[in-house]
Amino acid sequence: MMLIDAVSSLRRCLTSWRRSGRSIALVPTMGNLHAGHLALVREARRVTDRTLVSIFVNPLQFGPNEDFGSYPRTLERDRKLLEAEGTDLLFTPPVQAVYPHGSQDQTRVEVPGLSNILCGASRPGHFAGMATVVCKLFNMAQPDIAIFGEKDYQQLLVIRRMVEDLCLPVEVRGLATVREPDGLAMSSRNGYLSPAERARAPALYRALCQAGERLREGLIAGEVERMGIEELLVEGLRPDYFSVRRASDLQPATTEDRDLVVLTAAYLGTARLIDNLRVSLRDMAIPATAATEGSENAN
Ligand code: PAF
Repeated sequence: MMLIDAVSSLRRCLTSWRRSGRSIALVPTMGNLHAGHLALVREARRVTDRTLVSIFVNPLQFGPNEDFGSYPRTLERDRKLLEAEGTDLLFTPPVQAVYPHGSQDQTRVEVPGLSNILCGASRPGHFAGMATVVCKLFNMAQPDIAIFGEKDYQQLLVIRRMVEDLCLPVEVRGLATVREPDGLAMSSRNGYLSPAERARAPALYRALCQAGERLREGLIAGEVERMGIEELLVEGLRPDYFSVRRASDLQPATTEDRDLVVLTAAYLGTARLIDNLRVSLRDMAIPATAATEGSENAN
């Protein structure tokens, strides 16, 4: 596995791969890798000739009171894991290489609408910071395919929209969330949980599964959301949101929508956990009285 931290060296290497007809997949990460990331790498290896993984803890996507400083940086361990997975190139640019004029003066990519709801409502500027760095990584590497986890469902839609709006020549693929045996979605932030909090954390996925069942039983979105919030509170989590949305664009779900996603974010100790569940109602009839009844806690 090659280790590169300069943009010019990255370009040289990728240009030679492209000239020899190799297809390239990019897996952007912030490091502290877990089985979810490694699944993305395996998928990258399956679908292209060369796999590039980036590790960059992006200051632009963290708010002033968030965990940029304490975000786990485990480069040596990550390097070994990626090597064992057969990664071809690990790109670890320093902040100065990504933001040579400083992160504050960086030109930004804003995806309006999608970026200001749900996680974007609680984390102002997060999605602009994320979209900016992903756009830069796409321009640095010019991969054929880029692969992201569906655990960050809103992030995936923001990236897809950015690619479409800016006509970026990259195919964005999402990969199913990898879960612990008790259902907790794998996340670098799970490491912030104390043993007692870790034991309570699967409540998030349980609440999502319950919500999926309730939607399939015909309950309306607002009621499903109210019950989800209650379940999280009972389990000792502090919900930020629990929301039933249209899967294609995250607009509040109406009774006519068949492809839904239930998304939630909740605090447990110092950790902010997110998760989501896709719910298909395609095999269910649209109620005759279908109203355009939105969800209660749309934000
Ligand atoms: O999902 C992440 O780890 C980050 O948001 C990403 C896509 C690597 C951009 O910094």
